[in-house]
Amino acid sequence: MILENKLNITDQIELAKAEEKISKQKAKQLFDSGDINKVEVGTFTGLSFIHAYLFEEIYPFAGNIRDVNIAKGTTAFARVMYLESSLKHIDAMPQSTFDEIIEKYVEMNVAHPFREGNGRATRIWLDMMLKKNIHRVVDWNQVHKEDYLSAMQRSVVKDIEIKVLLKQALTDQINDRALFMKGIDVSYYYEGYSEFKTEEL
Ligand SMILES: Nc1ncnc2c1ncn2[C@@H]1O[C@H](COP(=O)(O)OP(=O)(O)O)[C@@H](O)[C@H]1O
Ligand SMILES: [Mg+2]
Repeated sequence: MILENKLNITDQIELAKAEEKISKQKAKQLFDSGDINKVEVGTFTGLSFIHAYLFEEIYPFAGNIRDVNIAKGTTAFARVMYLESSLKHIDAMPQSTFDEIIEKYVEMNVAHPFREGNGRATRIWLDMMLKKNIHRVVDWNQVHKEDYLSAMQRSVVKDIEIKVLLKQALTDQINDRALFMKGIDVSYYYEGYSEFKTEEL
């Protein structure tokens, strides 16, 4: 079933293309306008801002906590009735070291607060924590899609794989515009969107 959207698109392929194009334009704008520097780092408020920024022109639920239970593969994400308390708990988790930041990211993935777009919004949120607290970001181009997805699937039980995978991909190029834009493209590629290049939009 196709998600209800503000564009009144009823064709799945057409919606995927419009979503990719518009939200990548917004991701670019987030960086170039400097709005990214206004985002609260490491909280649900900050994540919600990012999600709304990317998707508000497309989905009525942009930035809002979902009201349905969702699952991917064998993973059932936080049940709606526990979601708010889970997000409060995550807000309070420490974020001083690489390990703490990844643990917080893994918990946010388990919460999966939005109906759609969690992966793409939460990877921007993750990089902001890494940038602020350890002066590094992930060079997503160094993280193979299948390795990433299998490490995330596994992270629900054990987080060692995602820690190892992301640690080897850290870079100190934290203000590099091209690296950010390329990171958006890779992040979208993980989710099956690779029609447009962010830089060219
Ligand atoms: N089986 C799984 N178990 C846990 N997490 C998963 C699983 N599969 C995917 N993920 C995580 O969920 C993200 C996708 O969530 P989703 O809400 O669909 O975001 P997006 O719309 O940006 O693709 C992936 O990037 C990954 O981090
Ligand atoms: Mg998705």
